[in-house]
Order: sequence, then C-alpha cells, then structure tokens
Amino acid sequence: MFVLIWVTLLCSVTGSSADTDAGMTGPICLYRFCISLRRGKIKAEAGLCTVIPCSFTTAFSPITGAAWYKCDESKRSCDYSDIIFHSWNQSQIQPGFRGRISMLEPNLSQGNCSIVINDLDQSDSGSYQFKVTGWLNNMHNEFLFLPSTSVSVKALTQKPTVKVPALTEGQQTTLTCTAPSLCSGSDPNITWTWRRSAEDDSYITGNITTTHGHNSSLTFTPSAKHHSTEVTCKVNFRGNKSTQETVTLNVAYMKEPVITGDRRVKRGDALNLTCSFDSFPPSVIIWAKLGPSGTKTNLQIDTGSATLVIHDMTADDSGQYVCTRQYQGKTSTAYVNVTVFLLPEILKSSGCVSWSEVLTCVCVSEGLPLPTITWPLLDKHTEYSGTYTVSKYTINRTITVKVKELSSTDVQCVSTNEYGEAVENLIIRTSEKSFAQENGGFSAILLTVTVVSLIVNILLIVCLIFLWNSRKKLKQNQEDQTYLTLSKRDISPDVVAQQVSASVD
Ligand SMILES: *[C@@H]1O[C@H](CO)[C@@H](O)[C@H](O)[C@H]1NC(C)=O
Ligand SMILES: *[C@@H]1O[C@H](CO)[C@@H](O)[C@H](O)[C@H]1NC(C)=O
Ligand SMILES: *[C@@H]1O[C@H](CO)[C@@H](O)[C@H](O)[C@H]1NC(C)=O
Ligand SMILES: *[C@@H]1O[C@H](CO)[C@@H](O)[C@H](O)[C@H]1NC(C)=O
Ligand SMILES: *[C@@H]1O[C@H](CO)[C@@H](O)[C@H](O)[C@H]1NC(C)=O
Ligand SMILES: *[C@@H]1O[C@H](CO)[C@@H](O)[C@H](O)[C@H]1NC(C)=O
Ligand SMILES: *[C@@H]1O[C@H](CO)[C@@H](O)[C@H](O)[C@H]1NC(C)=O
Ligand SMILES: *[C@@H]1O[C@H](CO)[C@@H](O)[C@H](O)[C@H]1NC(C)=O
Ligand SMILES: *[C@@H]1O[C@H](CO)[C@@H](O)[C@H](O)[C@H]1NC(C)=O
Ligand SMILES: *[C@@H]1O[C@H](CO)[C@@H](O)[C@H](O)[C@H]1NC(C)=O
Repeated sequence: MFVLIWVTLLCSVTGSSADTDAGMTGPICLYRFCISLRRGKIKAEAGLCTVIPCSFTTAFSPITGAAWYKCDESKRSCDYSDIIFHSWNQSQIQPGFRGRISMLEPNLSQGNCSIVINDLDQSDSGSYQFKVTGWLNNMHNEFLFLPSTSVSVKALTQKPTVKVPALTEGQQTTLTCTAPSLCSGSDPNITWTWRRSAEDDSYITGNITTTHGHNSSLTFTPSAKHHSTEVTCKVNFRGNKSTQETVTLNVAYMKEPVITGDRRVKRGDALNLTCSFDSFPPSVIIWAKLGPSGTKTNLQIDTGSATLVIHDMTADDSGQYVCTRQYQGKTSTAYVNVTVFLLPEILKSSGCVSWSEVLTCVCVSEGLPLPTITWPLLDKHTEYSGTYTVSKYTINRTITVKVKELSSTDVQCVSTNEYGEAVENLIIRTSEKSFAQENGGFSAILLTVTVVSLIVNILLIVCLIFLWNSRKKLKQNQEDQTYLTLSKRDISPDVVAQQVSASVD
C-alpha cells in the first residue's frame, strides 16, 4: 500500500531536525510532510484533561481527514486497531475514547493537530501518533507521522481551590470552589458538605450552590454556630474520580456576656465571678468595681473569659462590679451587683433581768442586712415598752414587760434577715444587783438615791452624836441656843429620808 512507503521512508529521517521552541520539537520532516510535537513526556492526572500540542504541514491538497492513534510505548508504531480519534468515522474509534477527544482547531487546513483528551484515566498512558489523509497527484492517500508524544496519566492528586472571604456573623457571604483543571474538559459535579468537629456530617443547611463549569459557589449567611466548622468542596469527575478540599471557617462573632458565680457572698468568704464574652477573635476582658469612692480598675485582664477572685469579702465590698470587653476596637460592658451578707447571730451579751414584777430583756444581734428582732413569747404581755439602738451590723433591742409569774416565762429572742434566722432562749437573772449592773440609766438613779440617802443619814447621825455630846456639856453650862433652834425645827433622820424618797417618786 502507498501509505507504508511513506512510513518506512519517514523512519530513516526521524531526528534530522532543528529545535525551534523550548517546549516543542522543531518540525520533523519527510519531504513536505512535517510535524512538531511536545518535547518529552506529558504528565497528567486521572479525572482531569490534557492537551497534546501538535502542528503539521503536508503535501496533500486538499486535506480530507485526520486521525489519532494511541498504543503501548513499547510498540514502534501504532496500528489500525489503536484509533482513538477519527475526523469523520466515529465507528472506527475505540469505545473507551469516544466523545473524549476533540481537535482544538477543526479546520485541518490551519495545520493545527492539537487535541484535548478529557476524563483521563490511568489507562490513557501511552504513545500518541497523528495521521492525515488527503489528495496528492489525483490519488487519495494517508500519511502516518512516526514521531509520537508520550503521555503519562497518574492518579488524581490535585485539589480544588476553595476561596473563603472574611466571614462576619450575619453578613451573607459566598464561598467559591474551583475544580483543578488545566484545560476545559467536561464539567465535573461539585458538592459542598460541612462537618462540625467530626460528630455530625450533614449538608450545609443553607443556601444557593451554583456551578459554572469548574466553579461552584456557596452562598450563605454565617452565624456563630458556623465558627470552626469544616466545609468540604468535593469535585466528582467522570469515571468515579474525585478530589476534595476542606477549609475551616472562622466566623467573626460576638455573643452576649455571661457572668457566672455567686453574687451574694457571706462576709469573710471569697467572691469568685467569671465573666465570659464568647467571641471570635477573642475579646480582651477587664474586671473592675464601680464603688462610691470611684473605680477600682484592672483587677483582672484576660481573653475570652476572666475570673475575678476577692478573698475575705467585707461589707464594704458590696456594690456594682463591671466587666468590660474590648472587641475589635469596640468596648461593651456587663454589670453585676454583688451583695455581702451576714447570717443573723445573737451575741452573748444578750439576756434578761427581772426586778420586782418587771422583766427587762436585751437582745444583741449581728446580721447583714440588719436583722429585725422579735420576742414571740412575750407577745401576750401587752404592757411593755421597748427601745433599740443600731450600729453598723449590730442591733440592740430592749424590751420591758410587766410579768406576774416569772418562773414559767421562757424568753425567746428571734433575729431574722433575708438570709436566715437565729433563735436564742435568754437567761433570766432575778437579783436586783445584777439588774442594776445590766441596766445603766434607770438603775443608776436608784443607786444614786440609795447612796445619797445613806450619806445623808450618816451625816445626820454624826450630827446628832455631836449635838448630844454638846448638850451634855451645856447641861453643865446651862441651856444652849443651838439645841433650842434644832428642837424647834423638829428635824429627825426619818423626815429627811422621807423627803428624799418623795423627790425620787
Ligand atoms: C467507518 O469505519 C467502519 C469500520 O472500519 C467501516 O465499516 C465503515 O464503512 C466506515 N464508514 C465510512 C462512511 O467510511
Ligand atoms: C492550535 O489551536 C489552538 C486553539 O485555537 C491554539 O490554542 C493552539 O495554540 C494552536 N496550536 C498551534 C501549534 O498553532
Ligand atoms: C480553513 O483554513 C483555510 C486556511 O486558512 C482557509 O482558507 C479556509 O477558508 C478555512 N475553512 C473554513 C471552513 O473556515
Ligand atoms: C437562601 O438565601 C436567600 C437570600 O440570600 C433567601 O431568600 C432564601 O430563603 C435562603 N434559602 C434557604 C434555604 O435558607
Ligand atoms: C472560575 O473561577 C476562577 C477563579 O476563581 C475565575 O478566574 C473564572 O473566571 C471562573 N470561571 C467561571 C466560569 O466562573
Ligand atoms: C453529575 O451528576 C449528574 C446527575 O446527578 C449526572 O447525570 C452526571 O453524570 C454527573 N457528572 C459527573 C461528571 O459525575
Ligand atoms: C467508585 O469507587 C469506589 C471506591 O473507589 C467504589 O466503591 C465504587 O463502587 C465506584 N463506583 C463506580 C460506579 O465505579
Ligand atoms: C472559682 O470558681 C470556679 C468555678 O466554680 C472554680 O473552678 C475555681 O476554683 C474558683 N476559684 C477560687 C479561687 O475559688
Ligand atoms: C444593680 O444595682 C443598681 C443600683 O444599685 C441598679 O440600678 C441596677 O439595676 C442593679 N442591677 C442589677 C442587674 O440588678
Ligand atoms: C449593745 O449592747 C452591748 C452590750 O450591752 C454593748 O456592748 C454594745 O455596745 C451595744 N451596741 C449598740 C449598738 O448599742
């Protein structure tokens, strides 16, 4: 056959050419049949596509068709069974290549024999050869170029490119995923999945995914829950080949502050408050106290959350505490009211004294807020008077009741504030002396009266003794004027005592 002659002749000429382009061999010619191919092996990946660049010139006029062959690299030349592309007879093409190969320039007269192979498979590796048909000297001939291009197809390793803009909570955004490809092969299917820290694996509950060729975009409105989720773009190529890329979303968000810990602290205990401003990026948090005296600042600085610990709280530490957050140049605050409390306690100095039929009881109690004191068992005794004095956390309550039968009276003092109650049965002492000691005011007057009358009596007795002695002397020296004066006024110790008593009554 005519073709074989050309092929045989070509063999002897291969390599007799000059290189012109760095990536391409120079034209390799046999008479007026020349071809330029890519120098070296073309490397490609399964699922993707590749281009075999090729240009040629022929002696044919006109050119009627072209074909590409692919065969094992060990073969010197491909044969008819290896046709992978045919410009006009599809039935001659190997089934596995049908529809996968096209010429970049359909007009063969342009001398451009470049082809693109889509949906590559590793079995596509091999030597590729070009054949051209046409008229020469009124005969229809074909010419198979012996120089071949070697293609190596490896497993898919390229990953899609996922572009994530800066994400802010509440602001709609679009992620894009571009499938890897060096040429415009057939469009892959692109899917988006998201995974929240490996526990659940679900499709993004969101929104629009649109695919244009090798690009897919996912539009959604991020929220705090999307922070640190993993979004995967999976690209599925024909022939069960896929590749994927995973990105972790960083959503700028800011949650409401949360202050945890007991706001009501027993005096002497520690205050332990934690202020959390959940946000991304983390906030800088400062604890401070807003007191009447001003601002105590910089008690605690931290990121994300800050714990404030104050040991041995005093009543003065009650007040408003403020937790300040600095987030992206903005400042926001959260307030908490801290109350220091003291459970009611009845102090040892409490007690009762009975005198005659009068019962006086004092109940001294501490507490914060200041407790109220009640006497539940003395309620039935209506005739009473009471006073109370108050210092910072102490209340002294005094009650005076007229009681007939003292022995049976149990006096109970009950001290109550919103945090608790203290109950104490008070001891009743009956001695007058102790009453006088216990109760200053009223008993002091009685004591003074007693002492004054005693002194007056003593003075009178001394006076009388003196006068008696004088009178003895006067009897010897006739009557004395002084004695007569005293006798006239009729002064006696009893009368003086009665007068003093009356002034007391
Ligand atoms: C196409 O090729 C097949 C197989 O080689 C052949 O039978 C058929 O006649 C060809 N068709 C044309 C139109 O040349
Ligand atoms: C062949 O045609 C394609 C598409 O027009 C072009 O990109 C390529 O550069 C051409 N190759 C040559 C060798 O002219
Ligand atoms: C093909 O290319 C040749 C050479 O440039 C040109 O003369 C011819 O018109 C083209 N054919 C078509 C169908 O475009
Ligand atoms: C998707 O977003 C559009 C606006 O961006 C909204 O109208 C639509 O309701 C959203 N769909 C879903 C399922 O969230
Ligand atoms: C796909 O994305 C790339 C880069 O992101 C862009 O250059 C190209 O124009 C996009 N193509 C389409 C069809 O949207
Ligand atoms: C993409 O998906 C559609 C329908 O799910 C399917 O018909 C098509 O063959 C798929 N294409 C690829 C490249 O997997
Ligand atoms: C695709 O590949 C997976 C594993 O690689 C296999 O389990 C599955 O059966 C394949 N599907 C097809 C349609 O070849
Ligand atoms: C403060 O409270 C937290 C949580 O209740 C606890 O882990 C921490 O030990 C406490 N700190 C102090 C100093 O008591
Ligand atoms: C804290 O106390 C102030 C007054 O002392 C009051 O105005 C404010 O409402 C209180 N805040 C809270 C959260 O109870
Ligand atoms: C209450 O009484 C006790 C004992 O009687 C005394 O020591 C204390 O100073 C008094 N306190 C007040 C606030 O009156």
